[in-house]
Amino acid sequence: MFLNEISSGFISTYSLVKDFQDWSGIDRLKSAYLGMVLLDIEAIFSDEEYLFTPREAARAMRMSPRRRKGFTAARVALKRLARQLNLVEKDRPDREIETLGPDDVRPCLAESKIYCSVSHTGQLLVAVADRHPIGVDIETVSEKATRAKHLFMSPRERDLISLSGLGPERAATRAWTIKEAAAKALGLDLFQTFREVEVVRVGEGEGVIRYREKTYPIRHGEENGYVIALVSFNNLLKSPG
Ligand SMILES: CC(C)(COP(=O)(O)OP(=O)(O)OC[C@H]1O[C@@H](n2cnc3c(N)ncnc32)[C@H](O)[C@@H]1OP(=O)(O)O)[C@@H](O)C(=O)NCCC(=O)NCCS
Repeated sequence: MFLNEISSGFISTYSLVKDFQDWSGIDRLKSAYLGMVLLDIEAIFSDEEYLFTPREAARAMRMSPRRRKGFTAARVALKRLARQLNLVEKDRPDREIETLGPDDVRPCLAESKIYCSVSHTGQLLVAVADRHPIGVDIETVSEKATRAKHLFMSPRERDLISLSGLGPERAATRAWTIKEAAAKALGLDLFQTFREVEVVRVGEGEGVIRYREKTYPIRHGEENGYVIALVSFNNLLKSPG
């Protein structure tokens, strides 16, 4: 619960957000990047009138109720991140903190040059920020990724699943989250990412990918059947927006 923020009156649009402080490895993830927020989507109560900027409201209007719930939670998390990182004035209301990038699709943190990424699945949402292009994905561990592995992994990548010692579902789900996180960070479509981003190591807490002859570390968190992948590309791309 954001008691301080609620009592300050600046964030009056939602009353309860449960953080998942007890995730194993979450502190390790948080400390590796500029900022990270993990929220329970079901525990968010927000008044959209006070939360959304005009562009966010216009986008939300076109969404189904389920999609809108995730989109709203993403706005809550990104506005919170912008405040945590002091990217906006303390007294700026939420409805004046833009979290929808110029393309109306990718997320942003107000008018800052800080990169961010968001992912939601079922009950959970994760938002991250960094000084370099960053991507995040959260998925439930399931056999879906194992069944579809031939679609997004090369034969060499598929060999990593058994080498990882994690079991097929946990390893293949990690590989899937890695590719989605990388796609978001690089601004590639998923099929291009499947081809151009090679997973070279799958591990419980860390993995490695290769992209354009360079390798980059992947970091994972896992709890209660959810797995997160985070990747940040140092010195790679132009600034956002
Ligand atoms: C982007 C994509 C991979 C996300 O997949 P997903 O598992 O369904 O959804 P996630 O919850 O993990 O991520 C959704 C968030 O990613 C962000 N996102 C969407 N498209 C994005 C893009 N092209 N680049 C970076 N981030 C993007 C948004 O913040 C979105 O949440 P929001 O709309 O509520 O703010 C998926 O929308 C997709 O496949 N799109 C088709 C186009 C495509 O292939 N894009 C790949 C570039 S990422």
